[in-house]
Order: sequence, then C-alpha cells, then structure tokens
Amino acid sequence: MTTTTTTAVADPVDPADPADPADLAGFDALDESVRADPAAHRVLTGDRPTGPLHLGHYFGSLRNRVRLQRLGVEMFLVIPDYQVITDRDVADRLAEHTENLVLDYLATGIDPDRATIFTHSAVPALNQLLLPFLSLVSVAELHRNPTVKDEIAHSSQAAVNGLMLTYPVHQAADILFCKADLVPVGKDQLPHLEVTRTVARRFNERYPHPDGTTVFPRPRALLDAAPLLLGTDGGKMSKSRGNSIPLGADEDTTARLLKGAKTDTDRRITYDPAARPEVSNLVLLAALCQDRVPEEVAEEIGDGGAAALKRTVTEAVNEHFRPIRARRAELAADRGHLRDVLRAGNERANAIADATLTEVREVMGSL
Ligand code: TRP
Repeated sequence: MTTTTTTAVADPVDPADPADPADLAGFDALDESVRADPAAHRVLTGDRPTGPLHLGHYFGSLRNRVRLQRLGVEMFLVIPDYQVITDRDVADRLAEHTENLVLDYLATGIDPDRATIFTHSAVPALNQLLLPFLSLVSVAELHRNPTVKDEIAHSSQAAVNGLMLTYPVHQAADILFCKADLVPVGKDQLPHLEVTRTVARRFNERYPHPDGTTVFPRPRALLDAAPLLLGTDGGKMSKSRGNSIPLGADEDTTARLLKGAKTDTDRRITYDPAARPEVSNLVLLAALCQDRVPEEVAEEIGDGGAAALKRTVTEAVNEHFRPIRARRAELAADRGHLRDVLRAGNERANAIADATLTEVREVMGSL
C-alpha cells in the first residue's frame, strides 16, 4: 500500500543555520542513501516513560525503527527517565513505564544485541555535556522555541521551571553524545532538533580539533512516515489523554476501546479524513493493519455502518498485533532479562558518552 510521507521544513531557530529541505527527510526519501551505506549512519531516538506506547507510536515510528535496524543501521534508544520531571512535579510509576517501554521495543522487533537501549539517568556524562552546550544558546532562543511554548501551555505546573526552558538542550546531549546523524521523530520535535543542529554547528565552530576536523555531526530529522492516528475520542492519540489503544492491550480490551470510539450517523462508510475524521481514522487503522489502501477498506464495508466498521477494525488490529502481543507476554514473564538488556545498554551508552566527553574536554583545552 502507499502511505503518505510527510516532508516538512521547520522554521529555523537559528537564522544562520537555515533548515535545508534535504535535512528533513521522510523515511521513503531517505531509504536510498541509507540502503547505499547503512554502516555510515547512526540513529538515535527515544520515548518518554510516561505511559504505554500505543498504535499511533507503532505505525508512526516503531515499525520504521525496526526497518532501519533491518537495513543494518546502528540504533540507540534513549528512555529519558530523568527528564520526566520537566513538565510534572514527580515522575509517576517510572520503573514500570521504563520496563514497559523495553518490552514494547523488544516485542516489536528491536534486537537488543544490535540496538543500545538505555536510560538517561544511568549516563551521567550526558549532563556534563549539557554545560558547554548551554553556553552556546541564548536565553532568547530558548524562549522562542515553539514546542517549548506549547509544552509550557499544556504543563500542569504553576511556574515554568529552568528544566523546561533548557529541555531542547538536554535533547541535544541525548543525540550528540553518540554522534547520531539521523533522528526519527514526529513533526512536533523539529524545533528541538533545530536546537541540536545549532548546538552542534556552534560547538564545531568554536572548538575544532587542531587538525580542523570537528567533533559533532549535524543530525537530520527523519520524519515519522504514517499519517497521524487519532484517539478514540477524535483528538490526537496520546499516552496521557486516555484515548489510545496500547500496543500491549489484550484482544477484549482492544474490542472495548474500539467499541467506544467516536463515529458519526452516516451508515455509508467512506474514507474522507477532512469531512469525517473519526470514521476515516478507524478505516485508516484497519487499512494500516491489513496493509491495504483505506478507500478499499471503506468500499468493502459499504453500508454496514459504524457497527460493521468497528468489527472490521477490531479484527484487523487484533490479527495484526497477535504475534507481537504474544511475544510481549513471553518477554514480560522474564523481568530479569529486561533488566539485563537495560544494564548492557547503559554500559555501552556510558562507554560512548565518556569517550565523547573526553573528546569534548580535549578540544575545550581541559587537561
Ligand atoms: N522529547 C521526546 C518526546 O517528547 C523524547 C526525547 C528525549 C527524544 N530525548 C530525545 C527524542 C532524543 C529523540 C531524541 O517524545
């Protein structure tokens, strides 16, 4: 089937560093260059441990990560546990959410022998990179970041804390410590990635190696490939809005959640995202699961109404995720293995972060 690939150009945060459209590739556009030399690339991305990953994550990014891994690209997955307190006072059920993320990664096909899965709090060098990085951005630039502005607007906290304002710079450390050059993210993260690119460029200009080579690559955003899935209430599918279908949900829960999904009263099922967002979203979800075009799925349901649509989409989701969920349940039974995966990932991330920090100290002239 053909899925739409969004390719967008972000407003550059730094006027001296305009975003080149070629730097913001969709997965399809990038395939060719990655395929030509997978070993020349390193991917880093991550998910906040604030709740279970859902079907939107799966079709938007998880399955593309697995594709990149199959192409032979080295993958780093950060679980930014330390950063959860950016927009909330306390991190709720942190260990549980972290473990569930590892489960979701492994169940969907991330190979822990090839990928490095690590937690932010276990790699102290990341916070040491932050210091020179913070010196490279102005307070005005931090205030201008549209994603930060949006997160401030949605934050449950009474006052904006310093961590919130500097969050994009933390993210720069998360990305640059391993010299990743590709960062698969959703569109909302593009302003953050611009900060990373700005930090890398300014660091390289200010602190080149004596032979003129530079420390950091300027990473490119790899935009999520699938169109955005809506939640069961018709809003954006989100971990924290109670409107998502978790990847690890069982078949009955999936049926119940989809049964409660918002639809409309027109019995004829069509795929028309602009005029009928809720119905079209369910059609799209079934189509993604069955690897078909949405118009064909809608046509087949025809006059069956919302009930037939929900039956179709429930079956499609449960069928598609059956092997992934079975594997997830198997892995969930062995918590020791999950902890081993994280321990090994943390060790490897620490070794790489320490080496980068040593290089950073050298170019900055420390002993
Ligand atoms: N900010 C990302 C989110 O909200 C999570 C994240 C933290 C991240 N560090 C990262 C994503 C580094 C990509 C690269 O989902």
